Amino acid sequence: MSAAPLISVSQASKVYRIGDAQVRALDEASVEIRAGELVGILGPSGSGKTTFLMIAGLLDTPTSGRVLFNGRVISKPETNLNQLRDFRRKHLGFVFQKANLIPFLNATQNVQIALQINGARRRYAAQRSRLLLEQFGIGNRAKNLPSQLSGGEQQRVAIARALANQPELILADEPTANLDSARGRQVMETFRRLADQERIAICVVTHDLRCVDLFDRCITMSDGRPTVQ
Ligand SMILES: Nc1ncnc2c1ncn2[C@@H]1O[C@H](COP(=O)(O)OP(=O)(O)OP(=O)(O)O)[C@@H](O)[C@H]1O
Ligand SMILES: [Mg+2]
Repeated sequence: MSAAPLISVSQASKVYRIGDAQVRALDEASVEIRAGELVGILGPSGSGKTTFLMIAGLLDTPTSGRVLFNGRVISKPETNLNQLRDFRRKHLGFVFQKANLIPFLNATQNVQIALQINGARRRYAAQRSRLLLEQFGIGNRAKNLPSQLSGGEQQRVAIARALANQPELILADEPTANLDSARGRQVMETFRRLADQERIAICVVTHDLRCVDLFDRCITMSDGRPTVQ
């Protein structure tokens, strides 16, 4: 592969300490992801998938090693997590197993708030949010509260929210775990389209092997170590 990686996780380890016990949740993991790549992260429970996503997504810092974006070191053990917040908001998008929508805001407002937090004007934010919901086929649900949406619809709002600020990298942790297989497939196909058309790099943790045909690559975690296929 020729293009330089968008993100490089370089020899990153994460050791959690609870009292005297310690767990090496990530063990010298090195992974590179390029723009437009859809990469699956597989592996058994407890193998370090979420930990990897937290480190790559700048939600946590590694105990050793570092994370680079476009060749520049952004995160290392001594980095203050607060300093990463702006970078995260500008460049990264997250999707989790639960949609985690704000219950008293409607679908549009849930997307809109992500834009306004980043400094967008209210009018522009509302317009872009409606457009994103239309692109995901839920324009007709724009005024529904999360409780008035199906699980699949809520997850599409969450993806629209993750995309609101035009991230270069999306990190998703089991985004289809609560969906039936058809809806889960739709979400993964959405990721495939975003990688192809928008050149977004997407890293998806999943247990669902039925979708691996959509991935460019799979990384299997085992005891905190990734094996790249
Ligand atoms: N905050 C924490 N404090 C202590 N140990 C942790 C913490 N988070 C994770 N661990 C431990 O680190 C290891 C890796 O956890 P992680 O959540 O990354 O696994 P996972 O592959 O995402 O598992 P699952 O498929 O069940 O979500 C596990 O042994 C877990 O118990
Ligand atoms: Mg996990």
